[in-house]
Amino acid sequence: MNAKQQRLYINIDHVATLRQARRGAEPDPVDAAIACEAAGADGITAHLREDRRHIQDADILGLKKSVRTYFNLEMACVPEMIELARRIKPEQVTLVPERREEITTEGGLDIASQPARITSAIDALTDAGIRVSLFIDPTRAAVEQSKKLGVPAIELHTGTYSHHPESKKTIGALRDSSRRGADLGLAVHAGHGLTVKNVGPVAAIPEIEELNIGHSIISRAVFIGLDRAVKEMREAILAARSS
Ligand code: PXP
Repeated sequence: MNAKQQRLYINIDHVATLRQARRGAEPDPVDAAIACEAAGADGITAHLREDRRHIQDADILGLKKSVRTYFNLEMACVPEMIELARRIKPEQVTLVPERREEITTEGGLDIASQPARITSAIDALTDAGIRVSLFIDPTRAAVEQSKKLGVPAIELHTGTYSHHPESKKTIGALRDSSRRGADLGLAVHAGHGLTVKNVGPVAAIPEIEELNIGHSIISRAVFIGLDRAVKEMREAILAARSS
């Protein structure tokens, strides 16, 4: 796999966080998505949380209409979200765990304890023509369980790595899970907490096809603009892939 084949999807949730601070119209995450695409993003990711703390339903509709690259909707595995996704039909849904009290998605899906619920969500989304990915912890058990559930793709949670990027164990878990996923025929994605400084070792994992990155790019954009922030991340990824 060469460097160009690793897709960079930008998560624009925190543009909506800024808008929701005033409950107004600006900044509009749909405008941000268009700007990210113009800067070279391969796709746009948005997380519609059950408490609607940032992205709103209308944003999802707007993104579906405006995104020209690829739209990846992150959502909890609950009936309300599954119905909405089936209606709006993003290209991909990434199922994530969600707890109202958390600040951000803190761990991967607990697929071992509720396989029936996840399987019926996967079936309902797949029937609607939506590609399904599961956001999981980087463990062999979670990768193997995902394969059994029949999804084409997994997204490895890079949160623990991003808190301890110096640890051989955290990057080792990502490498090992990526390899296992690819051996099982799964498409391997990764994301959470990635920054220009820590993305290198993750981007260098050859099996990882897609990175979902949000907070650090939107934060950087405050100082250097969205166009440069997206390009800066792309350059960091390319440098790691080609070294
Ligand atoms: N991937 C998934 C599944 C997520 O839930 C999130 C956060 O919404 C991200 C990637 C992006 O994380 P960050 O905003 O820390 O880059």
